[in-house]
Amino acid sequence: MLTIDWTSEEPAPAALQALAVAVASGDCPTTVERRFGAAVGQAAAAARFTGRPGEQFRFTRERDQTLQTVVLLGIGPDAPPAGRLRSVAYEAVRAASQAGAEQLVLDLRAVPGDATAAQRGNLVAQGLELGTYRYDRYIAEARRKPSTVRRVTVLGEPAAAEGLSRGQHIAASVMKARDLVNGPANLVTPTHLAEFAAGLARDLASTADVTLKVLEREDCERLGMGCYLAVALGSEQPPKFIHLTYTPKAASKGRVCLIGKGVTFDSGGYSLKPSDAMMGMKMDMGGAAAVLCALDAAARLAVPWEVHAIVPATENMVSGKAYKLGDVLTASNGKTVEIDNTDAEGRLTLADALVYAGKLGPTYILDFATLTGACIVALGPHIAGVMSKDDELTALWLAAGERAGEDAWRLPLPEALKELLKSPIADMRNTGDRGGGAITAGLFLSEFTEGQRWLHVDIAGPAMVRKPFGVNDEGGSGYAVASILELLR
Ligand code: BES
Ligand code: MN
Ligand code: ZN
Repeated sequence: MLTIDWTSEEPAPAALQALAVAVASGDCPTTVERRFGAAVGQAAAAARFTGRPGEQFRFTRERDQTLQTVVLLGIGPDAPPAGRLRSVAYEAVRAASQAGAEQLVLDLRAVPGDATAAQRGNLVAQGLELGTYRYDRYIAEARRKPSTVRRVTVLGEPAAAEGLSRGQHIAASVMKARDLVNGPANLVTPTHLAEFAAGLARDLASTADVTLKVLEREDCERLGMGCYLAVALGSEQPPKFIHLTYTPKAASKGRVCLIGKGVTFDSGGYSLKPSDAMMGMKMDMGGAAAVLCALDAAARLAVPWEVHAIVPATENMVSGKAYKLGDVLTASNGKTVEIDNTDAEGRLTLADALVYAGKLGPTYILDFATLTGACIVALGPHIAGVMSKDDELTALWLAAGERAGEDAWRLPLPEALKELLKSPIADMRNTGDRGGGAITAGLFLSEFTEGQRWLHVDIAGPAMVRKPFGVNDEGGSGYAVASILELLR
């Protein structure tokens, strides 16, 4: 964890100090010249630095016999949206660490603000902390490049300091989620996820009221979870149905069930994925990581909601015991499903989890799942697909995402496409056609949410990052943790 102060006074130059300055495009190049001299202004202009979002200009200067790395970070003409503010802080820490700095001075005085000061503090703290994140535990010490930054002094309005600790708590939970997603499937098994949840409950015991229940295979059999258990048949790893609960000490605003897809490895089953598509399928528990770690932060921040994190964890594998194409399964609400593709396993695990959550008398049910490649085709790698029949809940979620700086977009759930899920021998089959794959997956889930206020988030794109963007390097992103915390404010 970084030591972060927020002041309005620039600290004295010191050894191993880097300075990052947010520069608005309207102020360029005059402010640069005024502050750093004509030579820097000319060099920045020659390098085409104009203060647009994402632009950077770096130079080194000597001050009081110490060398200081200076980074100019473009923020554009207007108040930056939440995501941009997080990434400016993230980029500043990364640049400072590249220069080997121990202290970063981040000057945000030129940043016009929309959000409240505390919210700016929260977002900046998240970006700073995430800038220090590395997943390097399995490489030799000599190859690791841990962040050198320990202390950050942010220059801006002091009221923002209020949001810092919130942002640091959220970032800590986002990083835990990243560790889980980056963790290889030979280590991050369903049993590991259950132990991770037990670890959270243990660590939170002194701060908050958090309880854990793990349903074993036999418990799930008694509840009739035929869809979830069928997916687990092919694996040597025992399934673990994880249910972690946080109860606020103060009056609760309601009960929120957060369901996370927890397929710790998705081989596709007998509808086997080709090798290229199977590579990376350790990330198929990104929803599980998000809901468990969001509950962690929710408990630390003492949010005024009762929160349930529910994870039907399993692998999807092939073996002589695995479920097969054409099998008919019965879910815990009595509905029957004909399997026409064993690679559409996520929705089967979620079906029984949705029924389970529905019995808890929830105010809202939200599920998070790396559910379909089709959602990536529709929205690209950065944006999650949001599906719900509840306009009000959808508006709440989209607003939370905007405040958190995580991109999401609503997709429709047209009743007419339910046609595609028809089976001649069962209540439904588990896939539709090629077209509208994200939507038919959402429609399948809706069969298990009757009478509930429910929202589905397909995070197949943003859960795992291939090309770095925003506050993300390659690898697990921890997507949805920050938005969930905004929803639960
Ligand atoms: N876990 C995958 C979805 C996925 C694909 C996530 C790529 C991230 C990247 C899911 O279980 C799956 O295999 N979905 C199938 C559904 C199809 C069989 C209807 C898909 O997207 O191809
Ligand atoms: Mn699959
Ligand atoms: Zn999957």
